[in-house]
Amino acid sequence: MAGSVFGNHFKIMTFGESHGKGLGVTIDGCPAGLELCEEDIQKYLDRRKPGQSSYTTARNEADAVEILSGVFEGRTTGTPIALLIRNKDQHSKDYSNICDVFRPGHADYGFFAKYGFRDYRGGGRSSGRETVARVAAGAVAMKILASMGVNVHAYAKSIGPVSVSKVDLAEAKNNSLCMPDPEAARLAEEFLQSCMKRKDSVGGVIECVASGMPAGVGDPVFGKLDAMLAQAIMSIGAVKGFEIGDGFLVAESTGSVNNDAFYAAEDGVATVTNHAGGILGGISNGEDIILRAAFKPTPSIGSEQKTVNEKGEECSITIHGRHDPIVVPRAVVVVEAMTAITLVDALLSNMGARLDSIIKFYGREL
Ligand SMILES: Cc1cc2nc3c(=O)[nH]c(=O)nc-3n(C[C@H](O)[C@H](O)[C@H](O)COP(=O)(O)O)c2cc1C
Repeated sequence: MAGSVFGNHFKIMTFGESHGKGLGVTIDGCPAGLELCEEDIQKYLDRRKPGQSSYTTARNEADAVEILSGVFEGRTTGTPIALLIRNKDQHSKDYSNICDVFRPGHADYGFFAKYGFRDYRGGGRSSGRETVARVAAGAVAMKILASMGVNVHAYAKSIGPVSVSKVDLAEAKNNSLCMPDPEAARLAEEFLQSCMKRKDSVGGVIECVASGMPAGVGDPVFGKLDAMLAQAIMSIGAVKGFEIGDGFLVAESTGSVNNDAFYAAEDGVATVTNHAGGILGGISNGEDIILRAAFKPTPSIGSEQKTVNEKGEECSITIHGRHDPIVVPRAVVVVEAMTAITLVDALLSNMGARLDSIIKFYGREL
């Protein structure tokens, strides 16, 4: 299947299906010398793991990662890193009654129209479970970024109609909705409970901030850093909107407000405000990179829906099986992972941008 590869220099390819033997990722282009063990990756996978609250699918997966290649004596060797997560708790028979029916809001019909044949168990390749492989690769990217003083963190900014009014990152770890505001988390839980009672689902917005990114990273024109981030984030299942900086609000602003004034800071040029979200002309300007992803409500809902089957006959469908009533809390670490992968790819791509740096790297200074 085409479309499973992302990145140019830190290149990942994910593989596997929701109800197959397992899922995984290969990473080509990870620099040698990074200290890496399974625990470095597992701590991120544990944040995405299902079954941790009443707001996530009850599927009971340990999501234990195995490093198959690319690491020797605890350090990356510069060769492809293969990471495998075996599936343990598939209930494939949950899907047998809907095997020839297109679930509304899902990829089923599109897959059928394209391939004429599909793995209907849990959405196959388009399952939210595919993101386990992205998180594994993201953990490696996060470690590279951390070694350079770049920090990436995300949280739920809104759930349904409830938005946070403050950002307390420690609090985002305290509640099962990953909201950095305890009062908003309480209200969002109430809203979510009422939706769940009606066998309905909810969407929300995840905000992600990358701090410590140096200025001058990203390519102009088609390889713009914001364009690459948009591709990375929009490729996550259920994401329907992407914003950088003030995003759609810029359309209501004026140039005098929206332009971020520069000033001479101790360590270089900085901006007074950050409406741009840390990227201008597709290149980082050294300010925090701020992006947002809008997630739609989980498409699998318990109430009856109208649809069509593979024979083209109209029918109705009631989805059983195990599903997240909201995707957002588990997707927080997925957004962090895709952001980190994109930033590492852009940082590595920059290595050939300047002749003076190349000459210095090879020790050929005259
Ligand atoms: C972490 C994560 C978990 C998800 N869990 C579910 C789920 O339990 N049930 C479901 O119907 N969709 C779930 N989704 C969303 C679907 O995978 C997605 O909406 C579907 O494949 C259609 O693709 P699209 O929404 O990107 O168009 C999840 C997505 C993510 C990122």
